[in-house]
Amino acid sequence: MVSLSKSVLSSIYVSLLASSVNALIPIEIVGKRFIKPAPKEGDEGEVFFIKGVDYMPGGASGYSSNSKSDVLSDADACMRDAYLLQKLGANTIRIYSINPDVNHDECMSIFNSAGIYVILDVNSSDSGEYLDRENPSSTYNGQYLENVFKRIEAFKNFPNLLGFFAGNEVINDQGNSVKNAPPYVRAVQRDMKQYIAKHADRAIPVGYSAAEIDDLRAATYEYFQCNIDGDEKDESKSDFYGVNSYSWCSGSSDWGSSGYSKVNSTFQDSSIPVFFSEYGCNKITPRTFDEVSEGVYSGLIDTLSGGLIYEFSEEANHYGLVDLGTDGSATLQDDFDNLQSQYNKTDIPDISESDVEDPTLSTCNSTKIQSLYKGFGNFTLPDQPDEVSDMIDNGLNSTNVGKLVEFDNSPSNYTITDADGNEITDASISINPTATINEQQTTAVPTEASTTKSASATANAASSSSSSHSSSKGAAAGNFEINAGGLMFMMGVGIAALL
Ligand SMILES: *[C@@H]1O[C@H](CO)[C@@H](O)[C@H](O)[C@H]1NC(C)=O
Ligand SMILES: *[C@@H]1O[C@H](CO)[C@@H](O)[C@H](O)[C@H]1NC(C)=O
Ligand SMILES: *[C@@H]1O[C@H](CO)[C@@H](O)[C@H](O)[C@H]1NC(C)=O
Ligand SMILES: *[C@@H]1O[C@H](CO)[C@@H](O)[C@H](O)[C@H]1NC(C)=O
Ligand SMILES: *[C@@H]1O[C@H](CO)[C@@H](O)[C@H](O)[C@H]1NC(C)=O
Ligand SMILES: *[C@@H]1O[C@H](CO)[C@@H](O)[C@H](O)[C@H]1NC(C)=O
Ligand SMILES: *[C@@H]1O[C@H](CO)[C@@H](O)[C@H](O)[C@H]1NC(C)=O
Repeated sequence: MVSLSKSVLSSIYVSLLASSVNALIPIEIVGKRFIKPAPKEGDEGEVFFIKGVDYMPGGASGYSSNSKSDVLSDADACMRDAYLLQKLGANTIRIYSINPDVNHDECMSIFNSAGIYVILDVNSSDSGEYLDRENPSSTYNGQYLENVFKRIEAFKNFPNLLGFFAGNEVINDQGNSVKNAPPYVRAVQRDMKQYIAKHADRAIPVGYSAAEIDDLRAATYEYFQCNIDGDEKDESKSDFYGVNSYSWCSGSSDWGSSGYSKVNSTFQDSSIPVFFSEYGCNKITPRTFDEVSEGVYSGLIDTLSGGLIYEFSEEANHYGLVDLGTDGSATLQDDFDNLQSQYNKTDIPDISESDVEDPTLSTCNSTKIQSLYKGFGNFTLPDQPDEVSDMIDNGLNSTNVGKLVEFDNSPSNYTITDADGNEITDASISINPTATINEQQTTAVPTEASTTKSASATANAASSSSSSHSSSKGAAAGNFEINAGGLMFMMGVGIAALL
């Protein structure tokens, strides 16, 4: 803990006033819950539920490693979509593939200001950017991990980065993928967490997103959530776990027939946060999303931490809430309105951090996992290749490290049309200062009282390498480099917690 003098604090304060950059509070993990720490030091954090949407405009072809653009490179499109996500009532998006060499600062800053957290997958289907699920040893190498680490570099400084998915549906059948892939996914989680511990200012959570294969569901979860040999520091475990589920179809399913009761019992004793990383069956359209208010945020609320509806934009597989034209125009679909009213109906409980059960240690048990699915449970992870260890030791020296920036908070220039065909004209995002760590910056002029009090505030300058399954109490850990009016400075989170 470093005490800052009154004059230092005042000058930081003034700089903040000049800035429009409000950093969101990074989400932490305690036991099976996500926690949003309180903006003020000493106040209690709250359990955070994901109300989200999967976000990949353009689908898989929206990404190419050769392209200079990706889904987070057009600020005007991000302004359009941040507005729409706010209107919808979402607080999180999941993005599948980004180009680590592209600048994402404006888009991430827009989503940050709109109160939208991001969960990022670190792979793509391009060569050298994925783990081969059938023959993972052929792709588990320096080239792959360099691509993964570049994504960590590009996103590690964004406070609204909720976490990384180390793998998406890598185990996707009961053949070679389940036989060969599991220890490699754990190895990638290990490597990512080692890299983050050395080169990021906070313990960014890393998890896995599982395909919907009922026979494998319990075994896969057991495999990823446990600590090998009961080692508390085991870096290869998942910090959180995503389940893809399309089993509740609008208008035709209920708690029992959807299998949600089974989901509830499978995960009810979970040691880490579990949520739907994709959901929203589209067999019957328009979707009414009954599973939102009748399942995910009611029957499953004690077990899961919410979920992400698949998906924001209309693509070939017809799951879109919004139809995006080639000219960048957005037309809301009936699904958008229906999901909006579902989100509006959900009654998310307020749970204080102190009411969350303490984390439990779950020791990996191959016998138990094999009783759930025969042949699953190989905890002999591949050795880390030397070139990967070297990158972890030295860092990538990446030239593309993202950071929050100021942006022009005027409505998107793209046309937005609602589901009734009316154009929406004032599509600007609203910024909720109470959601941010530096909430005091929105106060017009600091009063004498607050200035005096700030003299006793302390800056938590310690960088956090604590594992994310333990609770780091108080203010969010880590520093955020903010470019305010051309001034670069490091802002200790504690400074934000002016009492
Ligand atoms: C909309 O266009 C104007 C003029 O080209 C530009 O100044 C403004 O930044 C654009 N808005 C956004 C949100 O990009
Ligand atoms: C990489 O992405 C592709 C396409 O999204 C997916 O099928 C594959 O399972 C992913 N691989 C990993 C390691 O996540
Ligand atoms: C779902 O699981 C929770 C524990 O996480 C339990 O309290 C609740 O009773 C379960 N609901 C049903 C309907 O079984
Ligand atoms: C949400 O519901 C409230 C009443 O419960 C209503 O006043 C409000 O307009 C609704 N908002 C949206 C965006 O549907
Ligand atoms: C592992 O799981 C099996 C089957 O559930 C159980 O019998 C055994 O006691 C467990 N081993 C340990 C060390 O907990
Ligand atoms: C377990 O995984 C390792 C790779 O980490 C592999 O070399 C070994 O053959 C696997 N063991 C079994 C029994 O499949
Ligand atoms: C990192 O980059 C800097 C500036 O580009 C360079 O001076 C330095 O040698 C690089 N370090 C490594 C380990 O490549």
